[in-house]
Amino acid sequence: MRVLGIESSCDDTAAAVYDSAAGLLSNVVASQVSVHEAYGGVVPELASREHIRSIVPVVEQALAAAESAQEAIEGIAVTAGPGLIGSLLVGLCFAKSLAYSLKKPILGVDHLEAHLFAIFLEHRVAFPYVALLVSGGHTSLFRVEGFDKVLFLGGTRDDAAGEAFDKAAKQMELGYPGGVAIDRLAQDGDRARYSFPRAWLSQESADFSFSGLKTSLRVFLSSSEGKSARQEDIAASFQEAIVDVLVGKTLAAAKREGIPRVVIAGGVSANSRLRAKMEEEGARAGVDVHLSSRALCTDNAGMVAFLGERRMSAGQASGLDLNAYAASRFSR
Ligand code: KG4
Ligand code: ZN
Repeated sequence: MRVLGIESSCDDTAAAVYDSAAGLLSNVVASQVSVHEAYGGVVPELASREHIRSIVPVVEQALAAAESAQEAIEGIAVTAGPGLIGSLLVGLCFAKSLAYSLKKPILGVDHLEAHLFAIFLEHRVAFPYVALLVSGGHTSLFRVEGFDKVLFLGGTRDDAAGEAFDKAAKQMELGYPGGVAIDRLAQDGDRARYSFPRAWLSQESADFSFSGLKTSLRVFLSSSEGKSARQEDIAASFQEAIVDVLVGKTLAAAKREGIPRVVIAGGVSANSRLRAKMEEEGARAGVDVHLSSRALCTDNAGMVAFLGERRMSAGQASGLDLNAYAASRFSR
């Protein structure tokens, strides 16, 4: 089955074609970074307008790069949520119109679930696995038992890890988006130079908290020590506090669940230190660590097309009354 995937949940307009036999045929992402960087974060209204401008050319590019005619598409998978409601509605309305005019089935896909299975675009992973989803909007742990069976183990009680990176970068005046800037600076920094707090909560908790870390950085930056500190050392030490908790809690969840394999997904899984430490500590604990290549960690439509293909091949479809939702469907 050949599926066109469409993703517009936040600030990237993306389209991709995934084919059951041939795999991922195209994966096009139009970034809106230049629109939002002046504001230091995504402005929802501007994001919706940008999606409206980009959706047609991005879908056309995805079809052209896949050398696929519109008529060869057998189904359309679209992100229905969670995300910015205005952004989601642009992709969703476009997908519904296209499905109606081509007389093809449509399936709404959950953005978080799409991230959890993105790894399959590059290699197969045995079920069950523990997945850490770590992005700008979410930091959660899941037990994944199949393409239709995802169990929520825990999540952040305040900021997401990506949000913590982005807010820290803003405080340090490193520009937007901040995660990449901190990652780059940290390469030349001493990660043990400063000690930022790690919120472990309780030993058994699969929940996270990053808001105290953000406050502690603000206090540090305004102190005399902070004012004379090297940016590289601050970035490396701050990053280490986030990475320590992400790695520690993921491996603890794998141990508790009795599962020797983990998948790390979402934008923050592009972070160099998280990737290195996850692999190092995973090897030490006898846990297989699966990481996607960086382009498939951040938002893309390839992951939406893939999960859509799996589920539509199994007979699932949505109606044209499919609607967008802003909040995550996962909670304990
Ligand atoms: O998954 P994603 O593209 O969008 C969401 O669904 O949120 O994740 C975006 C987040 C941003 O917070 C960005 O700063 C972060 O991922 N990010 C990184 C890196 N690359 C992207 N954070 C740390 N290090 C990176 N290399
Ligand atoms: Zn995402």
